[in-house]
Amino acid sequence: MIYARIAGTGSFLPGSPVTNDDLVARGVQTSDDWITTRTGIRARHFAPEGMTASDMAETAARRAIEAAGCAADDIDLIVVATSTPDYIFPSTAALLQSRLGIRNEGAAFDVQAVCSGFVYAMSIAEKFIRSGSHRRALVVGAEVFSRILDWNDRGTCVLFGDGAGAIVLEASEAPGILASALHADGSHHPILCVPGTVASGKVLGDPFLRMDGQAVFKFAVKVLADVAREVIDGGGLSAADVDWLIPHQANIRIINATGKKLGVPDERVIVTVDRHGNTSAASIPLALDLAIRDGRIQRGQRVVLEGVGGGFTWGAVLLQY
Ligand code: ACO
Repeated sequence: MIYARIAGTGSFLPGSPVTNDDLVARGVQTSDDWITTRTGIRARHFAPEGMTASDMAETAARRAIEAAGCAADDIDLIVVATSTPDYIFPSTAALLQSRLGIRNEGAAFDVQAVCSGFVYAMSIAEKFIRSGSHRRALVVGAEVFSRILDWNDRGTCVLFGDGAGAIVLEASEAPGILASALHADGSHHPILCVPGTVASGKVLGDPFLRMDGQAVFKFAVKVLADVAREVIDGGGLSAADVDWLIPHQANIRIINATGKKLGVPDERVIVTVDRHGNTSAASIPLALDLAIRDGRIQRGQRVVLEGVGGGFTWGAVLLQY
């Protein structure tokens, strides 16, 4: 039996933390109290002008490759989850392959599933590895959401941040990913979207993130616990066997409600939303890397990763680290 196992992780956050009070100082009509009470967010990071998803992905990827103890050229598959790519094309993954100096002509492509992007990318990479077609995958979540925020819409601009996280997944006889589940229901697309595009040299439609916050909240709480249960059952385990839950980091109230529904106590849930805000596809690998590097997640422990985002899309991965 071939598993896809995490060999190394890395992450990158641009610049210094921007606090809620910093946003007020920049002219956003909000308050630290409003943001922390409703979302748990205290700070986030923003990429400086000109810094792209592939810039952040490169640093996170180099850290993951170093932690995996392999060479960049040993990577034969790159999957980047992003909704804020450098270009319309080529993919951020192809740009990343070039920046890492990889010349082995392995596959490279992007996955666009917004905040579920990382679990989508990881599940796809796992299927390539288990099929035997590829041996070592670099899976990245990288986002510059600050580019698609409307700073006059205080209901959304306070929620997001920028960053990147990466893992190296490799073929292994020792257990790695034990189960995964991916879902989508496109009929909910209007409640969270960036409903614009570029054509004939112009922006067509709206280039900013639009959200019905309450509808998103209800949807997220409903599907996150269900999909986590689906992978825990799929792996033949119960919630008590899960050492760590790493939910997509959108809102502390969604995270707490999901943990409670699943029966995973708060001390076994990894939380970074207070420091990172919502970094969309980057939030799960950022949290995973942090908790591995600070020693909370240990080899052999069981971890559930789960995400929900625009589309709507949602998914989860159960793994043994
Ligand atoms: N600061 C101060 N006041 C604000 C702000 C702000 N940043 N934003 C909105 N308000 C005001 C509104 O104008 C409104 O005022 P009014 O009553 O005078 O009209 C009031 O606060 C309440 O607004 P609501 O939108 O009803 O606030 P709600 O309690 O629903 O909280 C929030 C909004 C935090 C967005 C909540 O709905 C939420 O967390 N939803 C989940 C959304 C989410 O996490 N999205 C992330 C992307 S999706 C994903 O990653 C899964």
